[in-house]
Amino acid sequence: MDIIIRPETAADITAIVHVHQRAFGRDNEARLVTTLRAENAIILALVAQVAETIAGHILFSPVTISDGATVWPAVGLGPVAVLPEWQQQGIGSSLIRAGLAKLPALGYDLVIVLGHPDYYPRFGFRSTQPYGIRWEVDVPAEAFMLAELTPGALRGRRGLVYYHPAFAEV
Ligand SMILES: CC(C)(COP(=O)(O)OP(=O)(O)OC[C@H]1O[C@@H](n2cnc3c(N)ncnc32)[C@H](O)[C@@H]1OP(=O)(O)O)[C@@H](O)C(=O)NCCC(=O)NCCS
Repeated sequence: MDIIIRPETAADITAIVHVHQRAFGRDNEARLVTTLRAENAIILALVAQVAETIAGHILFSPVTISDGATVWPAVGLGPVAVLPEWQQQGIGSSLIRAGLAKLPALGYDLVIVLGHPDYYPRFGFRSTQPYGIRWEVDVPAEAFMLAELTPGALRGRRGLVYYHPAFAEV
């Protein structure tokens, strides 16, 4: 099975909606992806293609971290989704690794994710809690994670993380 990881194109949009609807079993994440694209709030969006099928999609959007005085840019990972029949075959991991590898060249060195603490540490994520980085929404500390793409990327950044307002609708 050859999996191609490549940037999304306009021709993929219908398939991407389908991937999120099937993976999450609801419309919320597909709607979020559509809104972020319409508002140019996407830093990077990749699809996983297997033959003619779009089997997975990942989106990275801009977030800010603010301590009230200074605002720093960072990247939010997600949503990421793989069609149920294609899960557990490494596609999600390939999308995440490919995205993280591309972000430094786009000028980003810090990535935030709200996700399962058993899954994301394998990609270099760890809880934000020891670094004084929190989300405005109350979530389990171990599920809110960060990854430095270059050593020392945090450089004392701390405070609240702000996502695009569309995330509040999910
Ligand atoms: C999460 C998701 C993208 C992973 O894609 P995938 O192609 O199945 O992932 P991979 O094959 O690369 O990795 C599978 C691993 O992820 C783990 N995993 C998958 N979903 C998980 C979840 N929700 N929580 C914890 N671990 C999960 C599996 O247990 C497996 O772990 P193992 O390697 O230790 O056995 C996919 O399962 C999916 O689309 N889920 C529904 C949507 C979702 O929850 N997205 C993430 C939140 S934004």
